[in-house]
Amino acid sequence: MSRYAAFVFFVSFGVVSHLSHGIEVKVMNKDKLCLYANLTLNFSVTYEVADNKTKMVSFELPASASSNDSKCDDTSSILMLKFPDGHSWSANFSLKDKSYQADAITFVYNLNDSKVFPGSSSNETVTVTTKPDITDVGVNTCYSCKSEDTLIASPRASMTLSDVLIQAFVINGTKSENLTTCAADKPVTPTPTPTHVTNATTVVPATNATTAAPPTTPTPTLPTPTVGNYSIKHDANSSACLLANFGLRIGFTQNKKYQEVNFDPPTEVSGSCGVDSSELILTSNNITVSLSFYNDTKKFRLHEVNVTISTSSGVFAQSGSNLSLWEAAVGSSYMCNKEQNSTITGLLSLYTFSLRVQPFGVKNGLYSTAEECFLDSDLSFLVPIAVGVALSFLIILVLISYLIGRRKSRTGYQSV
Ligand SMILES: *[C@@H]1O[C@H](CO)[C@@H](O)[C@H](O)[C@H]1NC(C)=O
Ligand SMILES: *[C@@H]1O[C@H](CO)[C@@H](O)[C@H](O)[C@H]1NC(C)=O
Ligand SMILES: *[C@@H]1O[C@H](CO)[C@@H](O)[C@H](O)[C@H]1NC(C)=O
Ligand SMILES: *[C@@H]1O[C@H](CO)[C@@H](O)[C@H](O)[C@H]1NC(C)=O
Ligand SMILES: *[C@@H]1O[C@H](CO)[C@@H](O)[C@H](O)[C@H]1NC(C)=O
Ligand SMILES: *[C@@H]1O[C@H](CO)[C@@H](O)[C@H](O)[C@H]1NC(C)=O
Ligand SMILES: *[C@@H]1O[C@H](CO)[C@@H](O)[C@H](O)[C@H]1NC(C)=O
Ligand SMILES: *[C@@H]1O[C@H](CO)[C@@H](O)[C@H](O)[C@H]1NC(C)=O
Ligand SMILES: *[C@@H]1O[C@H](CO)[C@@H](O)[C@H](O)[C@H]1NC(C)=O
Ligand SMILES: *[C@@H]1O[C@H](CO)[C@@H](O)[C@H](O)[C@H]1NC(C)=O
Repeated sequence: MSRYAAFVFFVSFGVVSHLSHGIEVKVMNKDKLCLYANLTLNFSVTYEVADNKTKMVSFELPASASSNDSKCDDTSSILMLKFPDGHSWSANFSLKDKSYQADAITFVYNLNDSKVFPGSSSNETVTVTTKPDITDVGVNTCYSCKSEDTLIASPRASMTLSDVLIQAFVINGTKSENLTTCAADKPVTPTPTPTHVTNATTVVPATNATTAAPPTTPTPTLPTPTVGNYSIKHDANSSACLLANFGLRIGFTQNKKYQEVNFDPPTEVSGSCGVDSSELILTSNNITVSLSFYNDTKKFRLHEVNVTISTSSGVFAQSGSNLSLWEAAVGSSYMCNKEQNSTITGLLSLYTFSLRVQPFGVKNGLYSTAEECFLDSDLSFLVPIAVGVALSFLIILVLISYLIGRRKSRTGYQSV
């Protein structure tokens, strides 16, 4: 994060400072602080490239953002951040009685900016708006939310806010030390069912909440995923240099909801074979999985996994690196026929079925000897042996106690 050399933008209206993480904005009205914001903001946008394909990019609010067009007055204020070329992000707040709220967040992005959206087939400027769940913030308090909050503004654009501290109406030019903390930051305590419910007609729905807790519906059990056979060649005339086959199920947590999908053998396979690292990239309808393997001279392992999934509620993207999965000696293949559960990140797990993979040293396009996973080999023959050993012990135990018993009863009989 060293790229943010303390960037300070002095204008009559807004001062933006770039912190090690995120951005700090001070909006002044006649030399007095009137709006304060400190937040981390990431964007994720899916856009069209050639051949009706889509591409997803994620980026942080850039260091060059300026807050010049921010404004505040007594009952409304706007936090406006503009950044090159032609993009902006803004939040509108309103004050009513003893509290204020965010009415809308608007994100404008310019698909014509090829630095951010390389290969975009459109040159439009897109505007998306969403209503965040920032309501009922006490006057003269800062809204504080350290937790991540992902706002899905459209099926193609989402924003992730975290470490947010905002006071949209600063009184007397001094930021308040009192906080209104968001629900996500509060420790989860089982809420007792209300004993008396107010007349339903008086209950005003606060917002079109984007963070409404989804009801936990039991996910139907999926069928075993179809096993796909994949291979990568150096060029059209050579034999395969990377071989893989597996069925894949992906478990992921999006908007705090865990779900599983089966990956259908893909429409697109690409990748590369190297000396130190090899890659396999699979794209199915709405899922892209990249697997990167590493050769550390003696062994190979799966060391990086990137997964992107477009769902009805936005784009899920996670990458896990420094992994040590699917390890075997270079020159052999790794095999795991049983279902194997691999945790990639806190939000992403892969379940593989009938897995076999050889990312290095493939000869004549055929797999070399396999090193089988623990699940396949050890347990399968150790379990009957363990059961046998336990049974033999039991028999010996019964035999010994029988012999002792007999001896005792015989001596007992003799002494009487
Ligand atoms: C935002 O993006 C940066 C860099 O791309 C990343 O380090 C950070 O973890 C992201 N934060 C969130 C909340 O996604
Ligand atoms: C892209 O999609 C449109 C409509 O879905 C279709 O008419 C067109 O042929 C497609 N183009 C390509 C290159 O696939
Ligand atoms: C945008 O793209 C359209 C068609 O692709 C083209 O006619 C138009 O000139 C472009 N506009 C700009 C500003 O590049
Ligand atoms: C914080 O809130 C308390 C109780 O509402 C109030 O007494 C105190 O003056 C407030 N402090 C500031 C700095 O606003
Ligand atoms: C709230 O939801 C209703 C219906 O779901 C929709 O018509 C309305 O436009 C939404 N309002 C906002 C601000 O998103
Ligand atoms: C592949 O083989 C064909 C016919 O044997 C030859 O014409 C072509 O140049 C070769 N391509 C490469 C990349 O070696
Ligand atoms: C995974 O994503 C990271 C960060 O976006 C990128 O640096 C890396 O090259 C990707 N790896 C693969 C195998 O696509
Ligand atoms: C990956 O592992 C190496 C060595 O174990 C370590 O130096 C590096 O910081 C790790 N990277 C991440 C992103 O965890
Ligand atoms: C897979 O492993 C993760 C973490 O170890 C665990 O939370 C999850 O329940 C496991 N899933 C299955 C189906 O075993
Ligand atoms: C694995 O890496 C070592 C050292 O970089 C290299 O000598 C060897 O050829 C590699 N093995 C394969 C099969 O690519």
